[in-house]
Amino acid sequence: MKLLKYIKEYRFSAIIGFVFKIAEAALELMVPLVMADIIDIGIKTNDKNYILMKGLTLVGLAIAGYLFALVCQYYASVTSQGVGTKLREDMYHQINRYDHHNLDKLSAPTLVTRLVNDVVQIQLAIAMTIRLTSRAPFIMIGSLVLAFFISGPLASIFIIGAVILAVIMLAITVVSMPYFNNIQKKLDRISLIVRENLNGIRVIRAFASQNKEIDKFKNQTKEQKDIQVKVGRIQALLNPFTYLIVNIAIVLIIYFGGREVNVGGLSQGEIIALVNYMNSILLALIVFANVLSIYNKAGASYTRIFEVLETEPKVKDLGKIQTWHSSENCIEFRNVNFAYNQKNILHNLSFIIKKGETIGIIGGTGAGKSSLVNLINRFYDAVSGEILINDQPIKEYDLHSLREDIGFVPQYASLISGTIRENIQLGNQQASDEELMNALKIAQGKELVEDKIAGLDTIIEQGGKNLSGGQKQRLTIARALVKKPQILILDDSSSALDYGTDYQLRQELKKLDITKIIISQRTSSIEQADKIIVLYHGEIVGFDKHEQLMKDCQIYQEIYASQHSKDGDSHE
Ligand SMILES: Nc1ncnc2c1ncn2[C@@H]1O[C@H](COP(=O)(O)OP(=O)(O)OP(=O)(O)O)[C@@H](O)[C@H]1O
Ligand SMILES: [Mg+2]
Repeated sequence: MKLLKYIKEYRFSAIIGFVFKIAEAALELMVPLVMADIIDIGIKTNDKNYILMKGLTLVGLAIAGYLFALVCQYYASVTSQGVGTKLREDMYHQINRYDHHNLDKLSAPTLVTRLVNDVVQIQLAIAMTIRLTSRAPFIMIGSLVLAFFISGPLASIFIIGAVILAVIMLAITVVSMPYFNNIQKKLDRISLIVRENLNGIRVIRAFASQNKEIDKFKNQTKEQKDIQVKVGRIQALLNPFTYLIVNIAIVLIIYFGGREVNVGGLSQGEIIALVNYMNSILLALIVFANVLSIYNKAGASYTRIFEVLETEPKVKDLGKIQTWHSSENCIEFRNVNFAYNQKNILHNLSFIIKKGETIGIIGGTGAGKSSLVNLINRFYDAVSGEILINDQPIKEYDLHSLREDIGFVPQYASLISGTIRENIQLGNQQASDEELMNALKIAQGKELVEDKIAGLDTIIEQGGKNLSGGQKQRLTIARALVKKPQILILDDSSSALDYGTDYQLRQELKKLDITKIIISQRTSSIEQADKIIVLYHGEIVGFDKHEQLMKDCQIYQEIYASQHSKDGDSHE
């Protein structure tokens, strides 16, 4: 069991917890014996002092038991919380290593549920193991043994009763087990729906489809409720059955015990003790059944947690090269093929980008532009073929060093909550205010800071909610620039900028002596590039200057024509 590794670290608190729980259970087992003495000796001889003494003993047992239970609970919490925290740390660490393949498979909502809910289930199971699981078998066995001491023949009623009880409980647990897994899955689905809805709430409003979304949510919660009710029904059988068995056993004990009392074989106190032990066994079994259902849920959570921990990135960081030696050929693709889940997206791409060149990439939606650039800094690895930077295969670079020198502006600007400074400094923690402002100036985002009283310390809300699309894009461009990268990749990063700002941005970028790859849907944004890659369904159908492509690349001509309609509605 992989969890043992985690529990090991807390073995001392776990053991202390166990020991105190068993001590508490031992005290509990003594109670019926003391009661029997009160009845058989105290009441029989009418010895008030004796009754008082024994009564005080009972109070003492209760107080001691309470204290022991407190100690046990404390250490159970230390263990379970400790293990949970460590699990979360490890999961978080692992998730941070994930490549994009992993993130496609395990998306944010399920990772959040696993990180939060599933760990709670494990914590609960550990705490319950210490607090209840140790106690239940001890009480059951202890009660049986003590019952044997009181009366061998009557104890056999116990054994038969306990076995029947155990079988019923086991059967009910086994039947309800698959439902619990199902409930967990449904919870995942609900959390996914909620997250998607809340993220896209503006879109949903815009399309006035709230009612549809509410129905979707209702359906899912209803399905989950139905399963819960089903399990509830099955589990509801537990109580009547168990009480029936226990009460039959008690009747038998009293019936046969009473006959023994008549012939002097047993005392009345001993009968009471036996009945108490029978009840203890029942309570212990009920606790056990509850714990089983907790284990059930924890089992499902366990699988889901270790799936997170054991998912290994496909993009392996095994390269050694730490410094970039610049070379004539900055980026080279050699017969590169790429697929998502076996579905081929990029077909046999080969091209060379020279140092300092500006390369435009254009192509229809879904042509594979983002996929192409995602290969350069190894968000994904190519299926076959080779990609070289400065004549060295990218796999031979240390992953951190590789990404360090590539300024990447993703298609969907994503900002973290914090200040403007914190967001841009993601590119370079050491960047001075002057460097930040300089990057902002190039990215056409200077006035974004200058207009604000707080300047660089202006707060950005979660996901950049308090910024416009274009403002977000400019900040992400500045973030990439502040790295002072050798290669700058802009994935449709000026799509939300007006034409004038886009033009200014290009003028500023031109001054930077670095290799640039600019993806755009607009020909106007890349016309000036040294060369343009025209992608069509994952294939390169043109790789040349604008003027040349206008002569011999049909797809490019079509794109150009669609953006420059005959009535002179040109955007430039
Ligand atoms: N994470 C992914 N998993 C599976 N398929 C994907 C994934 N990302 C993209 N695809 C698919 O790969 C193809 C190329 O997508 P890509 O994002 O590279 O296109 P694009 O040229 O950047 O399009 P756009 O101009 O809309 O940004 C599309 O058919 C898309 O559905
Ligand atoms: Mg794209």
